[in-house]
Amino acid sequence: MRVLGIESSCDETAVALVEESPAGAACLLSSVISTQIPLHRQYGGVVPELASRNHSGRLPLLLREALERANCSIHQVDAFAATGGPGLVAALLVGHTAAKAMALAAGKPFISINHLEGHLLSPFLPREETRAATGIPAPEPHLGLVVSGGHTLLLHVRGLGQYELLGRSQDDAAGEAFDKVAKMLDLPYPGGPEIDKLAELGDATRFNLPRPMLHDPNFDFSFSGLKTAVLYLLPKLTPTGNPHELDKQTLCDLCAGVRAAITEVLVRKAKLALRRTGLRLLAVSGGVSCNSALRRGLSDMCAKEQAELILPPPDLTTDNAAMIAYAGLLHARAGDHSELTTPVDPNPTLAGCTVRG
Ligand code: KG4
Ligand code: ZN
Repeated sequence: MRVLGIESSCDETAVALVEESPAGAACLLSSVISTQIPLHRQYGGVVPELASRNHSGRLPLLLREALERANCSIHQVDAFAATGGPGLVAALLVGHTAAKAMALAAGKPFISINHLEGHLLSPFLPREETRAATGIPAPEPHLGLVVSGGHTLLLHVRGLGQYELLGRSQDDAAGEAFDKVAKMLDLPYPGGPEIDKLAELGDATRFNLPRPMLHDPNFDFSFSGLKTAVLYLLPKLTPTGNPHELDKQTLCDLCAGVRAAITEVLVRKAKLALRRTGLRLLAVSGGVSCNSALRRGLSDMCAKEQAELILPPPDLTTDNAAMIAYAGLLHARAGDHSELTTPVDPNPTLAGCTVRG
């Protein structure tokens, strides 16, 4: 079985093809991404109108490239999957409608995928081969931590589509916190990778930034206090509060402090959730899972907790279509298809809660 996936929920246009091997493992045949980051960078964030126009221009070329790389024609595809939400409505419509049109033309099923489910399951794609060999149906029970630009979710995953929400951010998502602090420091968009890079040269102990809800006996997060803390700190570090007046070391120390505050909360809540649920497998996904300190922190914690940690490879952490095609394949295997009348939904539900785009 072959599934084509399309992602167009925000500022990445992407197409991928996955195939189920005779042994029952999913393997990635092709994955192409066109990022709009340089386009939006001059505005300091994503401009929805520009995003959808750009998706519609890029998508046909990417579809052709992904099919060519996979050496596959549209008639050799068994199902067409696309992100249906959360995301920007006009951006979602581009990929969703294209997948429906191809499904209609080829007489094959269409599958609308929740973008966050795509992230959630993405760490399993690289493991498929070994899993098929041992006969484990995907996805096995685990603790899922999704840390993206728009969402921070901790989920107990019991199986495909069986997701129990344990906790979520009550305000800004972890990626959003990185991006907002970066904007304050006038670093390029998106801020997460920039802060991560500068933080590697900084001293995380110099500034003691808040870690809200760290000791609360639940799995919820709050990251909005961090930008306020940086806002009040800046005028104390330079006479005018202008981030360009910060010396390089101070900037790096500040980035290291921000990164440490975010990662400490994420690692601690994941540890508590592993203990509370008794689960021994932690799968972490979303753009922030690329963060080097978070990867180190989670890896150390899991080693101590004797839990297994799985992460997507760095190119599958930020938005991509491989995760959409893979989720599409898992649903197709389970016999789940969507009607061609299924609309996009900027605020769909996952695990019984609304996830906003
Ligand atoms: O998953 P994603 O591509 O988009 C959403 O679905 O939201 O995540 C994008 C987010 C951005 O906030 C970006 O700043 C953050 O992931 N990000 C990082 C890193 N790389 C990307 N945050 C921290 N450290 C990184 N290395
Ligand atoms: Zn995403």
